Amino acid sequence: MGIQFLATGSYLPGDVVTNEDLAQFLDTSDEWITTRTGIKTRHIAKGETTSDLAVEAARAALSGSGLDPEQIGLVICATVSPDISVPMIAAKVKRALGIENAAAFDLNANCSSFVYTTTTAYSLMQTCGYEYALVVGADTNSQIVDWTDRATCVLFGDGAGAAVLAKTDAPGILATHLDCIIDREDALHCANKLHKTPFFDPDTVETLRERPDKIQMKGSKVMKFAIRAFTESAKIVTQKAGVQIADIKAIVPHQANFRILTSAAKSLGVPLERFCVNIDRVANTSAGSVPTALDEAVRSGVIQRGDLVLLAAFGGGLSSGAVLLEW
Ligand code: UT7
Repeated sequence: MGIQFLATGSYLPGDVVTNEDLAQFLDTSDEWITTRTGIKTRHIAKGETTSDLAVEAARAALSGSGLDPEQIGLVICATVSPDISVPMIAAKVKRALGIENAAAFDLNANCSSFVYTTTTAYSLMQTCGYEYALVVGADTNSQIVDWTDRATCVLFGDGAGAAVLAKTDAPGILATHLDCIIDREDALHCANKLHKTPFFDPDTVETLRERPDKIQMKGSKVMKFAIRAFTESAKIVTQKAGVQIADIKAIVPHQANFRILTSAAKSLGVPLERFCVNIDRVANTSAGSVPTALDEAVRSGVIQRGDLVLLAAFGGGLSSGAVLLEW
């Protein structure tokens, strides 16, 4: 008995923002963003929230699976930028899609979220008997970036992806690996807003007064971590599964910077063509990153049943992880 990806789906908000659009209000250029990151455009939500994006991606995956909503036993949504905490986004997805009989919760492992979500669903399906699970990664990064900070805001976009996992006779998921090293320097940081209450005023506590509630990043530090963590995760899951990296048909990476992918491809000795890349069009969509690229690769026929596929991600925390599977 294995746990297999049955179907995928994704959703991107309709509005596309180009590098030239950003250069209208930032000291930046298409040339800088393209050469340093590989990003040309990103989708930005205007009027839609993270949970709206999650619902649409989940709807597409569920529809592709051919299942009835009541067959889903587990819904997990991953996000860094939830628009609602109560109810959790997974509950909103359940309600919108009429999924009556499922356990549901949200999960946040920053940009590594989709590999954490998939691994969590995989484990719960094995131990708790769920036949089908719906996993979603969604983010509206435009809400949490500082639009005056050219070093970060140009990197991100909004989007969501989802997948239906099923217990099958096929091998499906072969190995998983999750990790999180301590971020001693706050290389990636974004605080939630603290509110004044009748009992507590955050402004009276010096350490709480100046908490930036927008993404701050020490880019080159994160980049070094990303290349190392990506390469290590890939090696660990292939060793666990007893397969050669050369046999992997498609690598679906977290899309943070095209330069990270070229470096990782080089150190793994894998042709860059095996990487499923959409960063040029969608930028970094955090939890939405891996599942949107996966959905695109499945829909375009790049990934076929029986192929060895590697999902690998890294991000704040500093978290990282990978899932190796036979599609
Ligand atoms: O999903 C979470 C994980 N995130 C990542 O993995 C991101 C990892 N890091 C990166 O992708 C890269 O470090 C960045 C794209 C963020 C930055 O690239 P870099 O090659 O490390 O550039 P840098 O930070 O060293 O900056 C080089 C120069 C600086 O100017 P000076 O000090 O050399 O004069 C920056 O001020 O580029 C400047 N700069 C910009 N210039 C034009 C920074 N952002 C911009 C910009 N437009 N948007």
